[in-house]
Amino acid sequence: MYNSKIIGLGHYVPDHVVTNHDLAKFMDTNDEWIQERTGIKERRWIEKGSEDTSAVMGAKASRIAIERSGLATEDIDFIVFATMTPDYFFPGCGVQIQDMLNMKNIGAIDIRNQCSGFVYALSVADQFIKTGMYKNILVVGAEYHSNGLDKSTRGRGVTVIFGDGAGACVLSREEDTSKGILSTHLHSEGKYAEKLTVESPSIRHWVPDIMEAGKEDTSYFPYMDGTFVFKHAVVRFSEVIKEGLEKNNLKKEDIDLLVPHQANLRIAQFIQKKFELKDDQVFNNIMKYGNTTAASVVIALTEAWELDKIKAGDVVVLAAFGSGFTWGSAIIRW
Ligand code: ACO
Repeated sequence: MYNSKIIGLGHYVPDHVVTNHDLAKFMDTNDEWIQERTGIKERRWIEKGSEDTSAVMGAKASRIAIERSGLATEDIDFIVFATMTPDYFFPGCGVQIQDMLNMKNIGAIDIRNQCSGFVYALSVADQFIKTGMYKNILVVGAEYHSNGLDKSTRGRGVTVIFGDGAGACVLSREEDTSKGILSTHLHSEGKYAEKLTVESPSIRHWVPDIMEAGKEDTSYFPYMDGTFVFKHAVVRFSEVIKEGLEKNNLKKEDIDLLVPHQANLRIAQFIQKKFELKDDQVFNNIMKYGNTTAASVVIALTEAWELDKIKAGDVVVLAAFGSGFTWGSAIIRW
């Protein structure tokens, strides 16, 4: 029996900064509303004509993570790629990474769990390592939201929160089972699927519908019942962090760093208060990037690590909640 440990982290975001003031130029919104409700000041959106896509950004983040891990791409045994904005309806982005990084013909899977995508992906990779099947796994989270958003005032409740970007980590076998990923905890509640969804493209809403002449089709845009999602998020975040701590006989005082999914600064502040954490025990970067969904936790974790906020031996808690609903946590001894 082994544990798995993060040995390399990397992230990539497009250069193009879109401020709240920029959004106010094409929809009825304002900087004050967005900052007060979400904490977001700006986000990165891929510019038209850029080569970036979810897979391309994922590959850029992966190259950094692999280089920092000290491994070579040929040492990677498997790829797990989390995204809700894949380049193709099929195949998934994982296989594109295999090609883009000139990797061996290793296995690659995609995870479709939206904001919880990275925590789910990490958990899947962790199981493969714990059973001894693989030694080194590349785990990627990437999103290209900006091309699929409703940029009219009708879409403002969702459009202002999403940003583009990617993060990646290399997960590797750890012989000392007191270190690395101690446990992961995953949940879902599918009855709320329609509270936060992008309906199309899907097999039940397919080409004949789309081609119908003159029909305005909003089913490609994300729909979110924001207040409903918010209320569930704060409850589920708290539950799944508590579950992870209890599983490992840890108390809230043992948390050195909480890296929550960056959905809304108010959600993170609620969790911080609930677990009585100080400002430097919770890492937030939603102000700069908005909600990058499956990329958000791994981008935040990478930045926290780059800023020396994580030391050997620290208890690092990752937690996420999102569409599905799905939610999860990972308890890590660094
Ligand atoms: N600018 C200005 N006004 C706006 C905007 C905007 N961008 N968006 C909405 N409004 C207006 C609404 O029209 C409404 O006006 P009305 O009262 O006249 O009808 C008012 O502001 C309040 O709207 P609400 O939607 O009730 O605002 P709320 O306070 O709930 O904040 C938000 C919205 C920020 C989206 C919040 O609900 C939220 O963060 N929810 C959770 C998001 C989340 O956790 N998602 C999960 C991850 S995402 C994933 O998994 C893909």
